[in-house]
Amino acid sequence: MDSASAKANKAAAKLVVGNWKLHGSLAANAELLARLLASPVLAQGRAVTAVCVPFPYLAQCQQLLGGSPLAWGAQDVSAEINGAFTGEVSAPMIGEFGSSYVLVGHSERRAYHGETDALVAAKTGRVLAAGMTPIVCVGETLAQRDAGQTDAVVERQLGAVLAALDVPQAARIVVAYEPVWAIGTGKTATREQAQAVHERLRAQLAAKGGEVAAVKILYGGSVKPDNAADLFAMPDIDGGLIGGASLKAEDFLAICGAA
Ligand code: PGA
Repeated sequence: MDSASAKANKAAAKLVVGNWKLHGSLAANAELLARLLASPVLAQGRAVTAVCVPFPYLAQCQQLLGGSPLAWGAQDVSAEINGAFTGEVSAPMIGEFGSSYVLVGHSERRAYHGETDALVAAKTGRVLAAGMTPIVCVGETLAQRDAGQTDAVVERQLGAVLAALDVPQAARIVVAYEPVWAIGTGKTATREQAQAVHERLRAQLAAKGGEVAAVKILYGGSVKPDNAADLFAMPDIDGGLIGGASLKAEDFLAICGAA
């Protein structure tokens, strides 16, 4: 990344997104969201903030978060728009509930649901076409890191998405680097480890051309109140994708406040 885009990027607001995964109930969500909105942290707007929730709760988010500083979205999307695809949920459907973001290619989808790079690329295109922001997740397993394959793995994952998009489309994505070994394990990548991968991803984005260099790259994997500020201080870390800590209002607010 050249220094001009580095500066522009650093000046831009951080993005902090909660990934609720398979958690929640109408009552628990209402309490969590009320606590988040009651705090001055989100309204201060130092960071752009959002929560990605299970599909059935999108309507609840629309009702409770409409007009608030906290945006919302989904954790997955179908690569199809409609038809005989039982159990699938399309991007236009997610968009109808006021969603701004959709996670695509989370490592849990890749590992447990066999999502391929090609499928992740197709889903990304659907989210963009529906006017929302795809958060494209990439990351290596511990075995891949130990084998020295980290850069090759994340570049392959991001490359498949970028190859399917033109420059204006690519400029509208968000990337999340989530080392699989750091997700839900309490083992965070050091800020130097994370920055090194983010720098590689930044170079890959920049090579696509135009404004793609300014795409936000979030770090995810055991981000907590006590490590968030350190991670967010790195030049190519533009925010965080927060799993476990996004379910506790105090923790999520502290992370947003660190941005
Ligand atoms: P974690 O999850 O913060 O619980 O490690 C992050 C994620 O999987 O998005």
